[in-house]
Amino acid sequence: MKRNVESIQYLVILAVLLSSVQGQDGEILMLPNERSSFDDCHMRFHKLEVVGIVRPAFGHPARLKEFAHMGAIGWTQPNGNISWKCGGTLIWANFVLTAAHCVVDSENQPPNVVRFGDLDIATTDGDEYAQQLKIVAIFRHPQHRFLAHYHDIALLKLERNVEFSEVVVPACLWTDEEVRFKILEATGWGRTGYADNQTPILLKVSLKPVDNEECSKVYSNGTDRKLRLGLQDHQICAFDEKMDTCEGDSGGPLQIKLMHNARVTPFIVAVTSFGTACGMSAPGVYTRIGPYHDWIVETMQKNGAILPNDVFNATFCAIRFAYFREYEDVIIVERTPDYVSVNSELSHMSLADGLPSYVVQLAWNGQTHDCYGVIIDEDTVLTLAQCVTKNGERVSHINYLNNITMEVSRIHIHPNYKQGSSYNNIAILRLQKFLDFQDLDPPCLWQEKTISQEVHVHGSGRRDINFFLYMDEHIEKIDPSITILTPRVRFQNASTCIIPKRYFPLLRNGLTDEHICNGQNLFLVPKSCDLVTGGALHTSDYKHQNFYPMVYGLNYLGRECGFGEHAIAISVANHAEWMKSVLFPNYKQSHGTVQFVDSDHQEGDPCRRYDGRAARCVPVSRCSRGWNQFLSNGTIELCATSSLACCPLIDIVDTEHNVIDPQLTECPSLVKDLNVTSPAGSLVYIGWLTEGSLEFRCLGTIITKKVILTTASCIGNELPVAVKIEDNGFQKTHRINEVIVHYAYNATDGTNDIAKIRLENNLIWSSYIFPTCLWTNTTHVPLVLSLVFPDDDGDIAFTRVVAMYNTDCQRTHRYIIQGSQLCARDPHNNFTCNTLTDLLRYDSPDRVSYVVGLSTDDDNCENTHYAVYTRISSFVSWIGMNV
Ligand SMILES: *[C@@H]1O[C@H](CO)[C@@H](O)[C@H](O)[C@H]1NC(C)=O
Ligand SMILES: *[C@@H]1O[C@H](CO)[C@@H](O)[C@H](O)[C@H]1NC(C)=O
Ligand SMILES: *[C@@H]1O[C@H](CO)[C@@H](O)[C@H](O)[C@H]1NC(C)=O
Ligand SMILES: *[C@@H]1O[C@H](CO)[C@@H](O)[C@H](O)[C@H]1NC(C)=O
Ligand SMILES: *[C@@H]1O[C@H](CO)[C@@H](O)[C@H](O)[C@H]1NC(C)=O
Ligand SMILES: *[C@@H]1O[C@H](CO)[C@@H](O)[C@H](O)[C@H]1NC(C)=O
Ligand SMILES: *[C@@H]1O[C@H](CO)[C@@H](O)[C@H](O)[C@H]1NC(C)=O
Ligand SMILES: *[C@@H]1O[C@H](CO)[C@@H](O)[C@H](O)[C@H]1NC(C)=O
Ligand SMILES: *[C@@H]1O[C@H](CO)[C@@H](O)[C@H](O)[C@H]1NC(C)=O
Ligand SMILES: *[C@@H]1O[C@H](CO)[C@@H](O)[C@H](O)[C@H]1NC(C)=O
Repeated sequence: MKRNVESIQYLVILAVLLSSVQGQDGEILMLPNERSSFDDCHMRFHKLEVVGIVRPAFGHPARLKEFAHMGAIGWTQPNGNISWKCGGTLIWANFVLTAAHCVVDSENQPPNVVRFGDLDIATTDGDEYAQQLKIVAIFRHPQHRFLAHYHDIALLKLERNVEFSEVVVPACLWTDEEVRFKILEATGWGRTGYADNQTPILLKVSLKPVDNEECSKVYSNGTDRKLRLGLQDHQICAFDEKMDTCEGDSGGPLQIKLMHNARVTPFIVAVTSFGTACGMSAPGVYTRIGPYHDWIVETMQKNGAILPNDVFNATFCAIRFAYFREYEDVIIVERTPDYVSVNSELSHMSLADGLPSYVVQLAWNGQTHDCYGVIIDEDTVLTLAQCVTKNGERVSHINYLNNITMEVSRIHIHPNYKQGSSYNNIAILRLQKFLDFQDLDPPCLWQEKTISQEVHVHGSGRRDINFFLYMDEHIEKIDPSITILTPRVRFQNASTCIIPKRYFPLLRNGLTDEHICNGQNLFLVPKSCDLVTGGALHTSDYKHQNFYPMVYGLNYLGRECGFGEHAIAISVANHAEWMKSVLFPNYKQSHGTVQFVDSDHQEGDPCRRYDGRAARCVPVSRCSRGWNQFLSNGTIELCATSSLACCPLIDIVDTEHNVIDPQLTECPSLVKDLNVTSPAGSLVYIGWLTEGSLEFRCLGTIITKKVILTTASCIGNELPVAVKIEDNGFQKTHRINEVIVHYAYNATDGTNDIAKIRLENNLIWSSYIFPTCLWTNTTHVPLVLSLVFPDDDGDIAFTRVVAMYNTDCQRTHRYIIQGSQLCARDPHNNFTCNTLTDLLRYDSPDRVSYVVGLSTDDDNCENTHYAVYTRISSFVSWIGMNV
């Protein structure tokens, strides 16, 4: 048996212990005896390592990339001046998309130049980035007629290719029929009022799309001869809600910026066709791109463009010029006129190496479908009720980590769930065996109703469209491999939540408290991210100097991971009561009325309650709550007689200090005054006489000048005769006068495994010989404890262990673990084995050591993660009597 042994140097140990035992604010972590919350992973799965937070940031020159696809279409006048009358969009190195009505001006002349990379066409400002190219061919859509507003789209071919740069780069096209965007942007050197004077610089305006039916109310009454057929499907309307600016230039783009690679690429949804006079509330009308995709591609190809397959596929197009695109706003931490500094960690999208260990895939007799679940305990998985059955088969296994399979042994579906419903869509799976603790990082479950910070979801998508692209990093090749994504989303309340229309039929009763609407208003390049159904709405909680996963809900519905339109998760907090009723066996357990639980137990004895709480037999009058409960509904648990209640320690009206020897209560202040030197000072070896010499077999700890505490299992059948104490480097032997083994000690199940050894002579306190104090708090123990044990050479060694709930130990323990016992685990090892009398101690920052537990359980230790100890606080009155 090897242990992770730490240095015995007192100061070193204290420093190490202090750093882990205390939270950031110096608070000492305390574990309650009983589990009552799901928000305790930082305790149950406590990590002893300390982890810091680092935030990288870098900068790059600021350029105006926002309008890099915008071209001004110009007519050169006889005097050499150029009139810029229309806008256009660069969509290929030598092709510009514009409106068909822009191919001639009012004098019926065609335009002859396009200028890019110049925000301010009226002046020479910023002209060093500008590129001005001649138009060599004009392709008006063949169905366009100047007498009508239909098919108002055209392509212009340039004399040569533009030079791509951050300020001159083509846009992508939104070729999908469906336009889900809530806000679109028009850009142009638009007029700002009736006066028709052009604004000197490029403007953008946010417009809200309206459906054609609504829009037709304005345009289909026959007043406009050019719209005799009313609005057509290839047209889209949008209006400026604020009405503070005019719509963009004719021929210019109606666009949406879609996110990818922590950048944004403009996608052209439509071309500005016509609108009503500025300042009116009527929407503008735009020619959609979608219906013209094939015409655009064919026209370009027939006229010399060599296009890759699927040239305007959103993914390929976005990747093509990704390195020229603007970063998404949120990652920009500082912006000066010529420098921008960004922090990649702030991006809405991040890539993960895989799903976290706590997200598992569900399987149905060897088949897997897209359903996942969240491990919330070593044998418990939380998932959606809808995931329990697929094609009529019940979930049979989970696949975790690198596809290790584990059988599901029990399924609990929320009792109010109905097949196919969005309500109470939650289930608990119990596993056949325990998952290996060392490899798992089970999450805490959020218990509050509201979520204030941004959180993450689990998604999956192509790597090439999602990874963080550093400045000047080119995406050299398409890489369709799929990776796990953890986009960051925001909690959306009833007024901000946008549900995709396709989910309306599933939500007939609307959203309830169990639905967490989450997402971003920003849209992604389509097909970048798919929600992992049954994956988690989660975050990483920095607590007690380490990161612990926190889960808020299970991913249920959502497109594009909730970007643009939002997603819905099933809230775990909302179902906490149901989960507790399934998972906490003692929760709301009702049991008879008057019950004798330990009919042979006398006053002061630890007793076993039905709810598993640490309890002791005390006169009913000292058990205030138990008595009141008895009076109200006649329920009480009794010991030997009807006047002795088996009372939860927390409820005992404390008069104990009257019986306890004052040496015990004054211990902490005594030790503080002694300037103790070594943490081993209060330890002794207990010796037996074998063949004429002393054999030292196990450890004890000094608690008063005459009394040593040890375990009953150490004493065994043969009484020890002496103890060995190290005093300033000298070994001294002290004769034993009496051994008192707890009368209720049971060697089979290890209960009441405690014994007192009384010495013949008083010890003399010094900085080398001093007592260990008793941990008397009956409801909590410190989370991080030192396990003190003799190593292979017989020297005293220390390691840190973490206290656990008894219910955690119970699941693998052979016997019923009583409230007077305590569970702990050694996080450095797969199993926790003890020698006969290991001590669990809390070594406080003020150098006072408290004995919290005594090892009792060495049974089967190589198969369990835990060890069971005698809980000292349950025996304080027994220890304190007649010391
Ligand atoms: C041509 O442009 C110049 C300078 O931009 C201006 O001074 C002049 O008035 C313009 N000519 C006409 C005919 O608009
Ligand atoms: C017809 O359209 C014009 C402008 O487009 C508008 O001013 C007028 O009120 C409309 N008439 C009806 C009856 O809707
Ligand atoms: C783009 O092409 C890829 C690969 O063929 C395909 O999976 C994806 O669905 C396409 N994207 C769109 C938006 O159609
Ligand atoms: C995991 O194993 C199952 C069979 O046990 C197999 O069907 C599935 O494809 C595997 N999944 C992965 C991601 O390897
Ligand atoms: C919803 O959230 C928005 C933005 O966070 C906030 O302005 C608004 O007051 C909230 N509305 C309600 C009803 O809570
Ligand atoms: C009796 O009342 C207590 C609270 O006063 C409650 O916890 C307990 O469950 C009740 N027992 C029964 C059987 O109703
Ligand atoms: C303990 O140490 C302090 C300071 O180091 C000293 O003043 C005090 O006298 C010491 N007490 C004992 C009992 O040695
Ligand atoms: C000792 O514990 C075992 C297991 O809990 C139990 O079966 C047995 O009755 C106990 N012995 C005594 C004497 O209480
Ligand atoms: C036990 O510890 C808990 C947690 O620190 C504390 O709240 C409680 O008051 C303590 N109980 C006693 C009796 O000191
Ligand atoms: C825990 O057990 C696993 C397999 O049972 C083994 O691979 C791993 O190394 C063990 N870890 C430690 C810390 O012993």
